[in-house]
Amino acid sequence: MSIIPVRVVPDPVLRQKSKRVRSIDNSIHRLIDDMLETMHSAGGVGLAAPQVGTLLRVIVIGIPGEEDFALINPEVVKGTGERLVEEGCLSIPGYVGQVKRSEQVKVKGLSPNGKVRQIKAEELLAQALEHEIDHLNGVLYIDYLENMDKLRKIEVDESQPM
Ligand code: CO
Repeated sequence: MSIIPVRVVPDPVLRQKSKRVRSIDNSIHRLIDDMLETMHSAGGVGLAAPQVGTLLRVIVIGIPGEEDFALINPEVVKGTGERLVEEGCLSIPGYVGQVKRSEQVKVKGLSPNGKVRQIKAEELLAQALEHEIDHLNGVLYIDYLENMDKLRKIEVDESQPM
């Protein structure tokens, strides 16, 4: 496993659309291992492959107190409700902003073993899933801010960036 430098704005790779994974081979498993290690070393609760420079539809999630997992080709099947949350991103270090996220999401994807996995999530997990899946489409949370004044500068360890 190795830690990969996290791409930060305005790196153009963050704005590209990632491709679907066609076969889950060793290179995908290695990518997932590296992403998990990178996420932990950066103190994040989630990470998407484009953030480590790989334009493939792979995300990892590590909510404190819960088991880490990876999801391949994830999709939000349904989002319900709306809530205002403060959000940070490992690719936008030193800032947080308030955005609207779903209260509950239903997400579908593949586990690293190739099995279909459906997840019903709320709270931080729902937020992280929406955030990471946005990354696969070149979308960053700052895109949802009315204006850049809504960004707040923070000390680095004040948030749980994604
Ligand atoms: Co992010």
